Amino acid sequence: MIVRPRTPRAHPTQREKIAGLLTVLLGKRVFHGLANGMEQVLDYLKKHQGRFVAEFSDYLRFASVSAQPLHKKDLVACAEWLVAHCRHIGLDARVCPTAGHPIVIARTRREKHFQKPHYMVYGHYDVQPPEPLELWTTPPFEPRITGRNIFARGSTDNKGQNFAHLKAVEAYLKTGTPLPCDLTFVIEGEEEVGSKNLSSFLKENRDELACGAIVVSDTGMPAPGHPALTYALRGIIAFVITLHGPARDLHSGIFGGAVENPAMALAQLLAKARDDKGRVKIPGFYDGVAPLSKYEREQIKRYPLSDAGLKKLLGAPRLFGEHGFTPTEQRSSRPTFEINGLTSGYQGEGSKTIVPAWARAKITCRLVPNQQPANIRKTVCDYLKISCPPTVRMEITAGHGAEAYLVSPTSRPAQAALRALEKAFGAKPVLMREGGSIPIVNGFKKVLGADTLLLGIGLPNDNAHSPNEKFNLDCFEGGQRMGAHLWQELAR
Ligand code: BES
Ligand code: MN
Repeated sequence: MIVRPRTPRAHPTQREKIAGLLTVLLGKRVFHGLANGMEQVLDYLKKHQGRFVAEFSDYLRFASVSAQPLHKKDLVACAEWLVAHCRHIGLDARVCPTAGHPIVIARTRREKHFQKPHYMVYGHYDVQPPEPLELWTTPPFEPRITGRNIFARGSTDNKGQNFAHLKAVEAYLKTGTPLPCDLTFVIEGEEEVGSKNLSSFLKENRDELACGAIVVSDTGMPAPGHPALTYALRGIIAFVITLHGPARDLHSGIFGGAVENPAMALAQLLAKARDDKGRVKIPGFYDGVAPLSKYEREQIKRYPLSDAGLKKLLGAPRLFGEHGFTPTEQRSSRPTFEINGLTSGYQGEGSKTIVPAWARAKITCRLVPNQQPANIRKTVCDYLKISCPPTVRMEITAGHGAEAYLVSPTSRPAQAALRALEKAFGAKPVLMREGGSIPIVNGFKKVLGADTLLLGIGLPNDNAHSPNEKFNLDCFEGGQRMGAHLWQELAR
């Protein structure tokens, strides 16, 4: 069947009406096999890559750093750009203000007479802080293409991944190919700071957002030719601990030795939290953590990255992790206690001989299934308080928290996703657990009762959260094809 490309329109075309009728007469499977229009969708994607990359670059130019109040305006501008772009490709879109950064909602136009299965695509347009800036080869918000990579903060995490889904849907809309599913895109601006305002938004819009499953491309795949379905994520708790010592910085020659040094006290306190075998020593920390099954350990062994390859990728003198577990197990399935930032005293040029007045550490713990964020927070904070010497005063501020996520990779939607991945990348997908966190996925389950399909297209060397973040353009294209196939497979 030859069908000419069409521009987006508000009402179902003649072709869509006929398609609907044929679907009813022939049955979904037969009709879609004959004429789902995949060829023209894939052709469209192939033909427009140049423009897609240019548009993607515009998206990357917004410094949408959710953690830094200075960038509040950039988040709003980015959300508005996204809405305009979604409208341009034929979606109904709106900006939804929240107490924090806005949420973008974009919907395919619904047909009056055909009820289609409804799926949500979730992503985030906010990005991590780009600092330290001096380590970037080119500025983080001026996208640069080298070979098949595009460098910019947010390129892999998560703008490139959600943009690939938008381009897949554009291909349907602009070629007049009937989409077998109704879709709602939810692209938020607070994922990197814990998705504080999204769960109340879900509750307020429960009816509109009710769906069969949520599709999220915000994870990884092991290598360009190795697509993956991620079936578990770690959870997280974040907090800041400050030790206060003398009322002001003191001359370390005049007073040093006779008063506690808060930086030293903090170093000693934190050092106690983990032993030299990589095990967290906080009593109760591992309570309830289920051991990995033999089957899972076998699966994890198949992950195609050797220890030597990982060491090289990370540029560390040696790998280090909890004894008794492989690096892949350590970073996907074991809980951690991690210092993310450590500050005290004089950080400027040259030396300054002081006893600092205070010392501060930003801490996160990664959690695994069965560890409740609230319980672990209490366990950890109680331990730190008890261990704190009386020579300093401790202050702890709680940050974001999220439960770990675990979902069956054998459900019908997961099987459909695996077929879509295989068609898009031409290789059998691997199943994997990953160590990062996407705070809202448990909210999707609790509020909407729906599972999340984690179909990541980032690579291990994409430098997410690091200087010189990049996204691979083959992954970008593969992700678009995956998006295109997915709606067919989910509707089968
Ligand atoms: N895309 C990541 C999560 C991710 C990365 C999952 C790689 C699996 C593999 C996401 O944007 C992220 O970084 N989340 C934060 C959440 C936190 C700030 C609450 C994280 O994991 O640190
Ligand atoms: Mn991230």
